[in-house]
Amino acid sequence: MPDRQVECELPVGGRLSEAAGKAGVLLDAACGGRGTCGGCAVELLAGTFIDAEGGRFVPDKPTRVLACQITLAGGDFRIRVPRHSLIAGGEKIVMDFEHAPKFLLRPPVRVEHLTLAAPTLADARGEMERVRDALHRRGYEGRIVASLGVARSAEGAADADYDVTVTVTRDQGALHVIRLVGGDATDSLYAAAVDVGTTTVVVALVDLLAGRIIDAASSYNRQITRGDNVASRISLAAEPDGIEDLRRLVVDATINRLLGLLCERNALVSADIAHMSVSGNSVMMHLLCGLSPTSLGAVPFAPVSNFLGPYTARQLGLEINPDAFVDIAPAAAAYVGGDITSDMQMCGIASGKEVAALVDIGTNAEIVVGNRQRLIACAAPAGPAFEGHGLGCGMRAADGAIDSLSLDGPDAEPAWTVIGDGRPAGVCGSGLIDILAELYRTGLISRTGRFTDRADECGRLRQVRRGSADVKAYEIVPAEGTDDGLGPIVIAEGDIAALLQAKGVIFAALRIAIKHFGDGLEEVGRIYLAGGFARHIDLDNAVAIGLLPDIDRDRYVFIGNGSLGGAFLALADEKVRAGLAHLATRPTVIELNLDPEFMDAYTLAMLLPE
Ligand code: FES
Repeated sequence: MPDRQVECELPVGGRLSEAAGKAGVLLDAACGGRGTCGGCAVELLAGTFIDAEGGRFVPDKPTRVLACQITLAGGDFRIRVPRHSLIAGGEKIVMDFEHAPKFLLRPPVRVEHLTLAAPTLADARGEMERVRDALHRRGYEGRIVASLGVARSAEGAADADYDVTVTVTRDQGALHVIRLVGGDATDSLYAAAVDVGTTTVVVALVDLLAGRIIDAASSYNRQITRGDNVASRISLAAEPDGIEDLRRLVVDATINRLLGLLCERNALVSADIAHMSVSGNSVMMHLLCGLSPTSLGAVPFAPVSNFLGPYTARQLGLEINPDAFVDIAPAAAAYVGGDITSDMQMCGIASGKEVAALVDIGTNAEIVVGNRQRLIACAAPAGPAFEGHGLGCGMRAADGAIDSLSLDGPDAEPAWTVIGDGRPAGVCGSGLIDILAELYRTGLISRTGRFTDRADECGRLRQVRRGSADVKAYEIVPAEGTDDGLGPIVIAEGDIAALLQAKGVIFAALRIAIKHFGDGLEEVGRIYLAGGFARHIDLDNAVAIGLLPDIDRDRYVFIGNGSLGGAFLALADEKVRAGLAHLATRPTVIELNLDPEFMDAYTLAMLLPE
């Protein structure tokens, strides 16, 4: 039962998943088109197709296939896309950040209104020399350089009666003139803060004179059509043209598109954006720069560099002022990336006296513990379970996702809320935490996550097929109540095991990081939770399943999108910008697998509650 019909041209001869992407229908491609994740399942209704073995066929009834394994052969195609196979639309993207420290407004880029002396026979200095001299008189010291593009615009100075505004920024000891326009244009100065996530990208337009974000736009990182996690992006980058393909997808198809949208909405031209600050994990930053992330995917996980940039927008292909500098948040290590440096800047963990912990929950959970004296950091491979992947019932936090759930009454009847107005299509991370907590609270699962005798009696236990075996599963929503009406939404014992593993890794990593710091949990004053997922979880339930420690709830602080927040602070305050490189060197990064206690801690943490 589709909610809406989309008509589009599909190019014959291409993979169905790629053709759909070109037509703006983004399919979930967790495995990057290898045919192993099942995320791109669609139903073929009409047309001629070629299957993975090269067999040509015309479906005589609705036929469920994996779009990445099917080639379009001809005819008028009709394809039905179930909502849970779509990645576009309705995702809860956290664009804002909280708990920002106070900052002084001293951006790394400035505008100066200059009145130049007109050339005479007695003073025939060039126009750029006049600009340089005027800037020196204004107090700017040292070498002043201008790009060819700025020199080309210098003749405009004469047209403007030598009354000009220049945009200047400092890099590596030199003052760079990046724009020259006629007249007084000092009433505006813009920059862009960008959070490049593996899944989503947020671009914020910053008014640097006011020191605030005036608009923001977000979308999926278009690389998601090639795989939904950093591991799949690393392996795709190793294919011929893979790096350039992924670079284009994030730069042209994602960031430039969002920049264009923001410029249009705010009546700006791209050249008005005079600086950019980007934050993200190391794989994303490497691909943004067109660098190979291959070395990030294998022991000893050495990046090309933890300190990338600044580069010019022209070098990166970003559509802002081509001479503008683009700063990239430095990383502490391959898997403790620039996004975590930004999180640290936002929550102030590195400058506080009190011992605190920072937890960024994702496929790769990053943890920092410490204070102004010492910091310990680690990355925990939690896997994608809390992002809804790898589970029969899981999905992203998008329209149709059950995002909260309780089991009520003697029969433990489920009651849920769904993102958007429609019927449920699956369960997202916050809902998965709730269901795990509720199944345990009501005695339907044991400490090891197995269904109990009580579950047998509750009337909602089903046998479902997983691979070649029948397994026990709790029915959350019967087939007729779901978005597509094709099958029930259930959580099987295997799904529960994947969730227990994910929460066990995160909890054990936090415990080991605290141990390395040398304190106990009781000494940790605050736990900062970063990222979009953390914002939506029920803290009590996260504690009840042992994902997070049982400390006073008011010691938990949500910082929202700290990656975007750090990028914004680096634009607003050049001292922050300069300090990020030092901040990234502060944590001692520990390798969890080398800690002899990690496996024991992990095994214990997989139990409920922990
Ligand atoms: Fe098609 Fe994973 S099965 S993208």
